[in-house]
Amino acid sequence: MTNTTASNKTPLDVRPRHMEFPYADMSTRDFFDNNCLKSAYIAAMSATFPDGEAEFIKSVRPYRNDTKDPNLKEQIKGFIGQEAHHSLQHKRFNEQLRDKGYDVPRLEKVFLKDLEWSIKRRSDKQRLAFTVCVEHLTAVFACDYLNHREHWAGMEESIDQLMHWHAVEEIEHKSVAFDLYMEIFGDRRLLKKSMCIALILLPYRFMKYQARLLWWAKRMPRWSEVKGFWKFMYGKQGMTRRMAPHLKDFFRDDFHPWDQDDSHFVDEWKESVYNPDYDLKAKAA
Ligand SMILES: [Fe+2]
Ligand SMILES: [Fe+2]
Repeated sequence: MTNTTASNKTPLDVRPRHMEFPYADMSTRDFFDNNCLKSAYIAAMSATFPDGEAEFIKSVRPYRNDTKDPNLKEQIKGFIGQEAHHSLQHKRFNEQLRDKGYDVPRLEKVFLKDLEWSIKRRSDKQRLAFTVCVEHLTAVFACDYLNHREHWAGMEESIDQLMHWHAVEEIEHKSVAFDLYMEIFGDRRLLKKSMCIALILLPYRFMKYQARLLWWAKRMPRWSEVKGFWKFMYGKQGMTRRMAPHLKDFFRDDFHPWDQDDSHFVDEWKESVYNPDYDLKAKAA
């Protein structure tokens, strides 16, 4: 990883792409490595996206005209468009998962209740701060997904396409909410406090949602699936250990999301993975 040298602002053009993926081609509900725990974990995450990403948009919107930076204003527009499309695509994916046996739309309702409970307790400033934190978590997750492809092997093709596109756009817009928050409030103490809450709350909720999906599906994990999931999440080469140093970075007093320049993932995706057949706008042009 290289460090950005110029200004710590989003170096990329943030614009929404109207993608569509063939989820119906999914052969099994256990779409990730034929492991119900790994699959339910990703499905649980996907359950949070439709309303979670809508919340990102709602938390940014009240301040979008307060920035004095015209570039940031444009990027906010792109950010809102991208998150709206992520919501839509994950909603479609979640419906396909229900047809396969995991009732993710039912879980979306559980998450919405949890989200509403949290929002009620936050001011607009705290909502934006929380969005900044979750955007960082999402960008770190996205970077891991793109950087350690071998650990994500065994994903059904259409889901891999969905996650790859989502990861790329999360990297593209990773500093938009941060830059807006810093310009309007500049309060790093609240960011750090919010991140501590996010690091406890989110893993707890994902685990709870994962268990619910399996319970509703009456799917008991085999011992080999438990071992596979444990290795994937908490093993020596596991996701938690890989992500930890990047999460720690957030607590630095001079942290900026583009301290780590991972824009090459976006270029690589555009050059070798991006499929214009899935891009409705490109197809129509
Ligand atoms: Fe997103
Ligand atoms: Fe995002």
